[in-house]
Amino acid sequence: MNSIFDTRRYLIPFRTGLLPQIFCDTLVLGSGVAGLRSAIGSSAKGQVIVCAKDSLDHTNTAWAQGGIAGAMHRDDTVEAHIADTLTAGAGLCDIDAVDLICRQGPNRIQEIIDWGMQLDRDESGEFLVGREGGHNASRVYHSGGDATGIELQRTLIDKAKSKDNIRLFDHCFVIDLLTQSNKENAPVLGAMTWHPKYGLQVIWARTTILAMGGAGQVYRETSNPRVATADGIALAYRAGAQIADMEFIQFHPTTLYIPGAARALISEAVRGEGAHLLDHAGHRFMPEIHELAELAPRDVVASAIVSQLAQQGGKHVWLDCRHIHHFKSRFPGIYNTLQSFELDPATDLIPVHPAAHYAIGGVRTDLRTRTNLPNLLAVGEVSCTGLHGANRLASNSLLEGLVMGAIAGEEAANRADTSPVLPSQTVSVIEHSNHAELDLDDVRSSLRSTMWINAGIERTPTKLDDACTMFDLWGRYTLDKIFEVPEGWEVQNMLTVGALIARAALSRSHSIGAHQLIADPAQSQPSSPQNPLHSIWTRGSTSPLYTNRISTIDNSEIPDSQQPIAEPKSNPGVSNN
Ligand code: SIN
Repeated sequence: MNSIFDTRRYLIPFRTGLLPQIFCDTLVLGSGVAGLRSAIGSSAKGQVIVCAKDSLDHTNTAWAQGGIAGAMHRDDTVEAHIADTLTAGAGLCDIDAVDLICRQGPNRIQEIIDWGMQLDRDESGEFLVGREGGHNASRVYHSGGDATGIELQRTLIDKAKSKDNIRLFDHCFVIDLLTQSNKENAPVLGAMTWHPKYGLQVIWARTTILAMGGAGQVYRETSNPRVATADGIALAYRAGAQIADMEFIQFHPTTLYIPGAARALISEAVRGEGAHLLDHAGHRFMPEIHELAELAPRDVVASAIVSQLAQQGGKHVWLDCRHIHHFKSRFPGIYNTLQSFELDPATDLIPVHPAAHYAIGGVRTDLRTRTNLPNLLAVGEVSCTGLHGANRLASNSLLEGLVMGAIAGEEAANRADTSPVLPSQTVSVIEHSNHAELDLDDVRSSLRSTMWINAGIERTPTKLDDACTMFDLWGRYTLDKIFEVPEGWEVQNMLTVGALIARAALSRSHSIGAHQLIADPAQSQPSSPQNPLHSIWTRGSTSPLYTNRISTIDNSEIPDSQQPIAEPKSNPGVSNN
């Protein structure tokens, strides 16, 4: 293997005919909002299986604090929500995706209320709406103050459990998608999975819905749970799916910075309630930087914190909540976390630091959630619909999960029929590696540190290039191994996706949205193109294709991977879709 781009098709050797086989109409990989909403929709017809990597509720969704954005308040409009989403997306949003999701959002939120989700209300029964960065209106619906994700997850699990034709498999690690052949655009037939008790199992499905979430764990500093190891993007890439816009990683400005403790999120809604960011001298710096001050888009706030740290030193800035008198009742979860470190928001300043939060890019889909691989749909954070453009508007992702999950469910149910799902004889042959044994923990932590330092909030071409060179080298003796445990597969997935992020970031020669590129000292800062394009990566090609729309996937228009179309640097308006 010369580079990460020659990565092999499957992580492990197998013969499907020798393994236990399970059959269903729809296989949903992932149990967050997008996965469960898809499963509930697809249960309208046929047998459905959901695979969760850990327990059903151990998901990024369950960790969501802020809420679900939706234009439901009488003082708000769908058009205003669309406008804020487009502004945050910095010129790279697909307007069709934004329009669809913002417009269908209110119905999907109402539906989840009808299914029993308790959203916070005032004494008169009116919904309480919060405000977050980049929103010009209060339109973020929440539960239990800062426990929206827990309540959404509970509601969806209850609903899924009420359906006789949905089987929920927990602790089921998905190793790879199975395809009809190793050729380009081969149909997806299901997945190879592993369970600590049952070992390897093959699940054959008419339709597979990929909903395996994000990639936060590839960074040393992240707000994401331990399960977010980029498995879904990596396995889709190995199967030949188009992967879009991987350079755009959203960094959340405010996670709790306590050395040795996980980077707990301090929701943007806290700034929405009036919290201020202070430097080491106690000076409030955001009003000088953006008219929305602490509620500027996340990339602006995160970069401002990084600049403060570069100027003043130190590892964190302060979040001042001392004037928010209702902190404990509005943010009970965050309050408890702070208490566990003996911090009292009424009297203490809170040390905060940015951390990787959301993978904006992912598996390219059209507006029916279809990917370039027949039978494979993708939804939620693992996917890229074009909604978020180059930077995601806060609290738009639970909304996207609900809307696109419903569409994926409909698609899958329409495909279910009475003919049996047939097994295929798939064989993966892999030579054993001659390379030395690996200290997996060391590879994992070196990768995470390199991503943070070289492909983090502020990037330079030199640092990105160094990361790409390192990952190619590490890939040679890590991706050739055959592991028998999730820890090994996770490191292989994280390395694949880390390399994709670094390579995509290196290929985008100007700053836009969440991709902040600082010119190397000897170079001048390149100006941004007026019509930025989406970058698309597929296994086997060493440079991206570019398109002006995510949602139009037409295989006949995708040039041979031997003839990649480079992003035009001097005439950036040109597109090829
Ligand atoms: C937050 O509560 O700050 C996170 C919300 C989001 O990322 O959408």
